[in-house]
Parts: sequence; structure tokens; C-alpha cells
Amino acid sequence: MPMLKVRTVAYKGSKRKLLENIEQFAEQINAKTVFDGFSGTGIVSAFFRSKGYTVCANDLNDSSYLYGRVFLEGYDQDTVQSVIEEMNTLKPIDGWLTENYSGTKERVIRGTNGRIEERPKAFSVANARKLDAAREYLETVDIPERDKNAAVFSVVLAADSVFNNGNDQKSSLKEWCTKAKRDVVFKMPTLVQGPVGTQHKGDVKDMDTPAVDFAYLDPPYTHGVLYSTCYHLNDSIASWHKPPLDHSYALPRPEKICFRKNGQSTGPFYSKQTATEDFSELIGSIDCKRLVLSYSDAPRNVLSIEELVEICSRYGECKVVSRDHRICIQANSMKKISSSLKEYFVVLDKEQNFHLDK
Ligand SMILES: C[S@@+](CC[C@H](N)C(=O)[O-])C[C@H]1O[C@@H](n2cnc3c(N)ncnc32)[C@H](O)[C@@H]1O
Repeated sequence: MPMLKVRTVAYKGSKRKLLENIEQFAEQINAKTVFDGFSGTGIVSAFFRSKGYTVCANDLNDSSYLYGRVFLEGYDQDTVQSVIEEMNTLKPIDGWLTENYSGTKERVIRGTNGRIEERPKAFSVANARKLDAAREYLETVDIPERDKNAAVFSVVLAADSVFNNGNDQKSSLKEWCTKAKRDVVFKMPTLVQGPVGTQHKGDVKDMDTPAVDFAYLDPPYTHGVLYSTCYHLNDSIASWHKPPLDHSYALPRPEKICFRKNGQSTGPFYSKQTATEDFSELIGSIDCKRLVLSYSDAPRNVLSIEELVEICSRYGECKVVSRDHRICIQANSMKKISSSLKEYFVVLDKEQNFHLDK
């Protein structure tokens, strides 16, 4: 059977290219149930569902909650198709996106002795007006929640496809890029077949995680990539709460995610001070046969892979496997890790489903 092609947003750390590798770890233990603790774009959850697993997923962010619900709950095709057709014919309007994220903005260019230039914001005015019309329209339609979620996901995807940067939503490119000049079009999100699953939203540390055969954890590991800052616009379009914005950044950001300015902590898993305890508690608390952690070797990681293996080894038998499924090391011989390898899986087979109560 050909692999399901899942349409989802651009995301740093997306595991699109590793789906089959990840699933093999579950297949080896004949798993039927899966927990995806940091679900991000939802692509891992979607893939597992399409392969017949029952998935429970979680993420902190509003947009990830939306993607996961659509992928794991599905939607009625006819209903969503007709709503999306309507979205493509609506009269464009000036709204929250047009006001805050469209056209150009005069900016002082760093390192130029105060030179001011006109720089693009996130969207062309024409595209922002269509996005506003579609998103406002969805506040008025009376359709079941899962169908509305699918249509809102379609707006997030459409916005992502014409956003003037492919990397993150903290800034916009110097010039309008090709994709930003295209006319925005609303399309159906991927409809995934398989057992219905559940998506949760919140700090995974606070979650009452279900007992599963296989748990997959793909945490951030570095405060260099703060997901709520990197993809704030997806979250704003998903929730449509129109949060107060701080306009001092290259692109306005919701005030509540200006962590440094607010003197707030960015949350667990991002901080060196608490990482060991956060990871140990989480890994210990999940009731599963096998737990796999993805690990990308990047500068400024809060934990080294050696530290992660030490933590996992507290709860069972642990090994590190590279993306081509070479076993790099056993836990007691960490020095053998090749410095050229960047993507790892830490595979933990728990002792008699050992788990700690939170
Ligand atoms: C590396 S990304 C996951 C990518 C995902 N596996 C994919 O392929 O799309 C890490 C995710 O962790 C989420 N996250 C960060 N801190 C979290 C927390 N305390 N609880 C739950 N999710 C969290 C972020 O919102 C982000 O989506």
C-alpha cells in the first residue's frame, strides 16, 4: 500500500522523513496503542492512525491541537468540501490579519546605522483579506465541531502556503518570495483513515497519560526553538482569539508569548536547570512497554544524549539507534557515538511496564 501523503504545516523538527523508522519500533513489539506526547504538526499521529494504531496525542499549542483533532477524529467530506468551496468565493475583507500582518512595514535595519527600509510583513494585502474573510466566515457557520476544525485547518494551511518565509513565523523575508505572491487557495486537509484517536492540549507533565504499548516523545530540547514563538500565527488563526500584540518585533507577536520581556519561564523541557528532572519524571510516569525519544544533536541542547540515556536507563533497558537503524551504543559505552550522526532514537524497553505515579 502506498504511504499516505499527509498535508500539514512547515515546522522545524517535523518528523516527516522519519515516519517509517519510528513505526518500525512500534511494529517490533506488536504495539496496537500509541501515545504521541509532543505531536507538533500531527504527522506522526496521522501516520500511526493510517497504519491501524489507536493514537492518543498531546501538544501544548492551539494549532497542534487543531491538527491532531482533524487527523485523529476525521471529518465529513461533503460538509467540509462545501464550506471550503464557499471560502474560495467569499468577498475579501479587512480584518485582524490584514491589519496586523499584511503589506509592508518601515523597519530600522540592524547594523546599518539606523537606515530605514520598507519590508514585507507576513502576507500580501490581497491574500490577508481572503484569509480574514474565510476565518471570520468560519465563526458564523453552523456545522459539527470536527468539520469546523477541518475548515479552520484549511485556513491555517492556506496561510502557511503564502506566508513570506518558510522557516518560522518570527520574521518575514526581505523581499516578497514566490509563494507569497501566489493567490491563496483553500484546500481540503488530509482525511486519515483508521481507528479514531484522541488529541489533548496542555503541558505533557500535567497530563494523565493513558497506558499504551508504545510511547513516542519528540520534545524541543533547545530554547533556541520556542515553538509557541516560532508558530504563533498558526496558533492565532487556529484559536481566533485575536490576542493583544507586541508590535516591536519584525512581525507582531502575541504579548503573552514574549517570554523574555515578560520575565516568564518558557516552560519545562526548555530549561537546562530543570531538564533532567522534567525528563526523568515524564519518562518514568508513562505506562508503556516501549518508549522512543527522538533526539537531534544540535547546539544549545538542554541535555546531551549521554544524559538522556542515563535518565532512560533508570527505567529499563535502553539503547541508542541511528536513523538508518544502526545500533550506535549500549548505554554503558556512550563514547562510541559517531560525531557525524545527528538524528537518533533512544529506545527504552521498560522493566515490567515500570512507571512512576506523577
Ligand atoms: C520537535 S516538535 C514535535 C514535532 C512533531 N513530532 C512533528 O513531527 O511534527 C516539539 C513539540 O513539543 C511541543 N511542546 C513543547 N513543550 C511542551 C510541553 N511542555 N508539553 C507538551 N508539548 C510541548 C511544541 O509545541 C512542539 O510542537
